[in-house]
Amino acid sequence: MPWNLIPKTLNADQPAPHLADYAAARATFSWADARAELAGLPDGGLNIAFEAVDRWVATGQGNSVALRWLGKKGERRDFSYAELARLSNQFANSLERLGIRPGDRVCVLAGRIPELYITALGTLKAGAVFCPLFSAFGPEPVRVRLANSRARVLVTTSLLYQRKVQALRPVLPDLASVLLTDSDNDEPGLHAFHALLDAESDHRPLPCTQPEDWALLHFTSGTTGAPKGAIHVHEAVVAHRWTGRMALDLRPGDIYWCTADPGWVTGVSYGIIAPLTNGATLVVDEAEFDVRRWYAILEQERVNVWYTAPTAIRMLMKAGPEPARGLDLRALRFMASVGEPLNPEGVVWAVETLGQPFHDTWWQTETGAIMIANYRSQDIRPGSMGRPLPGIDAAIVQRRPDGSVDFPMPGEEGELALRVGWPSMFRAYLDDEPRYQQCFAGDWYLTGDLATCDADGYFWFVGRNDDVIKTAGHLIGPFEVENVLLEHPAVAEVGMIGKPDEFAGQIVKVFVSLKPGYAPGDTLRKELIGFARTRLGPAVAPRELEFIDDLPKTRSGKIMRRLLRARELGLPLGDLSTLEGES
Ligand code: WT7
Repeated sequence: MPWNLIPKTLNADQPAPHLADYAAARATFSWADARAELAGLPDGGLNIAFEAVDRWVATGQGNSVALRWLGKKGERRDFSYAELARLSNQFANSLERLGIRPGDRVCVLAGRIPELYITALGTLKAGAVFCPLFSAFGPEPVRVRLANSRARVLVTTSLLYQRKVQALRPVLPDLASVLLTDSDNDEPGLHAFHALLDAESDHRPLPCTQPEDWALLHFTSGTTGAPKGAIHVHEAVVAHRWTGRMALDLRPGDIYWCTADPGWVTGVSYGIIAPLTNGATLVVDEAEFDVRRWYAILEQERVNVWYTAPTAIRMLMKAGPEPARGLDLRALRFMASVGEPLNPEGVVWAVETLGQPFHDTWWQTETGAIMIANYRSQDIRPGSMGRPLPGIDAAIVQRRPDGSVDFPMPGEEGELALRVGWPSMFRAYLDDEPRYQQCFAGDWYLTGDLATCDADGYFWFVGRNDDVIKTAGHLIGPFEVENVLLEHPAVAEVGMIGKPDEFAGQIVKVFVSLKPGYAPGDTLRKELIGFARTRLGPAVAPRELEFIDDLPKTRSGKIMRRLLRARELGLPLGDLSTLEGES
């Protein structure tokens, strides 16, 4: 079944694909050429926000719509490129007024509101580092990220501030200024976002960032330890623009909708930077997923390119064909998906229901941009992530005990690896050089994903080689979840796994053993889940909790989540004697 191709017939009314001939594009491509398409700055400088907005103003396209904001309550507001350039100038000037220096971290904790986009662009212009925090995070993930990033400024709303940040201020000495988007407040350390901007000029000298200056900080999870802060530099914009063009087929004037939240990397790389650097109009919907609303946006906004996620696709499938009946999607040229495996059924369903397939793309926080994709001009192999972009070398490798890698035969499973040297590769994990170094073997970056590659060079996702899980496309690490539950007086030990779920892909499930004197029961289960929700937020907290007498552990005391997973799925537990010694 996965080998069945979905052949492509290109609509003659639509513009020809940017990537027409895959082999030729790979053979002739160079990152230097991709870089030369950018405007750049004097003396070799480069700035993501300048490439995203100001360059279009400079070339006379300042009046075209950069951002079309659709509010929860039906509001609709357009921001032209020129307007975004001015507002982000005012924000950058405000940062300087607040004493922010290049390299300082500016965090945002907000839903998809216009101020988030202004903050991102203004921060980059000021040479500071933009760090988005997902608004559905509870106080604990927010605290860890604000503390570890040593954020100097936070942009947020009054409600999120009161609920998640205010009580933390005493333990966040670096956080000098909080800017509220919806308040007139002005007191030391707490300012009104709009009043602050209004007091500033909307002009600024050209940014003075260099390509290797830090620009973006995205927290991501591993099996152990606190979340890792992946650092990206301004040079990444070369990949953002190029992959937007080649993998998403973006072009100036496109109406483009990326449904990802900018609290995660997709919502920044492809929810802000790629569309703007390609001169498109970015549709931003503030509201949460809703079948009819989403179809209405596609139709009424005449979306040309749509980038979404398998969880959303499964929800649309669940709603059945009726809400899609009679939709006029003639404007829709290209649909793509990312973040978790895209089931072949989803690709086929889309052809039947929406008249065209989804194109799977693969990448991760560390890669900064799409690395592997199915292209508009190429036949699709449903179930495959596709083939590497021009400029990207991908391979399946097996780690040897000495740290070097082997290349197995085509079709054999191994770890997906990428040859280093693409512009949006992360440059560091914040304050954790050893962990960064562990990601590399010689010339290869090891992704932590297990995959296979067929004889034609198509990559197929198999799973992760660690204990992080994906729920509704969001990456969750066991460390944060388990740590919070361990703070509850009843909990002795806890192990987190991803439990397969029809819609979310996986849900967070925890196994808990109790301290003496506590008895398992429904009341305690609810209390523990409630406790975790309050601390972690609904996006991260476990949906299921099971009591268990003893958690399986290695001799060194590490919880073997693999065995918990096997137990959940009813799989054989394997040879326990060999696993015992695992570290
Ligand atoms: C992990 C990265 C994708 C960028 C935003 C999320 C999984 C990603 C696919 C895909 C199967 C996928 C991988 C990857 N993943 N795309 N097309 N098929 N799995 O970035 O939060 O760092 O997650 O998402 O496991 O390593 P992230």
